[in-house]
Amino acid sequence: MENVYGLLGFPVKHSLSPLMHNDAFAYFGIPARYHLFSVKPEQVGEAIAGVRALGIAGVNVTIPHKMAVIPFLDEVDEHAQRIGAVNTIVNDNGRLVGYNTDGPGYVKALEEEMDVHLDGKRILLIGAGGGARGIYFSLLSTAAERIDIANRTTEKAARLVREGEDGRSAFFSLAEAEKRLAEYDIIINTTSAGMHPLVNEQPLSLERLQPGTVVSDIIYNPFETKWLKEAKARGARGQNGVGMLVYQGALAFEKWTGQWPDVNRMKQLVIDQLRR
Ligand code: ATR
Repeated sequence: MENVYGLLGFPVKHSLSPLMHNDAFAYFGIPARYHLFSVKPEQVGEAIAGVRALGIAGVNVTIPHKMAVIPFLDEVDEHAQRIGAVNTIVNDNGRLVGYNTDGPGYVKALEEEMDVHLDGKRILLIGAGGGARGIYFSLLSTAAERIDIANRTTEKAARLVREGEDGRSAFFSLAEAEKRLAEYDIIINTTSAGMHPLVNEQPLSLERLQPGTVVSDIIYNPFETKWLKEAKARGARGQNGVGMLVYQGALAFEKWTGQWPDVNRMKQLVIDQLRR
């Protein structure tokens, strides 16, 4: 019998996850299929009960349900608990276990795609929303030297730094971070500034950017934001959001199947689809 996997979200129709996972199932000859499940916010509990009752083998969870699913699970791993959001559920013989592969996926994509070692690196994270949380707590488990946070609403950056309880972090306003830009080896945009349809917005000014800095943007729509293009034009090494998308999926696939998929193959499928 075919195992069923899927995505719980609202809306889900533009998701690239079925493309990645179904290709990987086929590649390994695993009899399984990944489906999209559009779940209204008031029916999250019923959806999780459905996963249990129908024996669905595993699901991803996306906006707006990443926090809401937690009370319905049997277990939530430590990292997902800390950030308060689950994006991957494994059905372990009826026990539903929640994980979050977004932050770990981001860090793995950064290390592998950009060929950087985070040990001793000074990192600036821009943004303090849901996207930033997972990445921040994953970065805290590396040996980076500094992991500072800048946000439009400075108080939110302050709160995240307080939660991190890690002496390697400070928080800044965007204006302050702009002035300090040359202090960082890696600059990461986790805000929605520049994402379709507001493609002209920029998270912060790159005037003081040093050539050779790694500039990473978790946005993949557009494929390269104006900000990322400008960073590259100023001599930075740039990374777009495709890597995070692919690696969070690859880590979920590994949790479900025990197999590490061909990430380059996944990435190519995603890129072809995005360029269409
Ligand atoms: P997500 O879950 O995608 O991170 P979010 O929780 O709404 O979404 O957070 C969006 C992030 O983008 C926030 O850090 C937000 O800054 P505020 O906390 O000040 O709202 C940031 N953001 C959105 N638009 C921005 C813009 N035009 N310039 C700078 N930051 C922006």
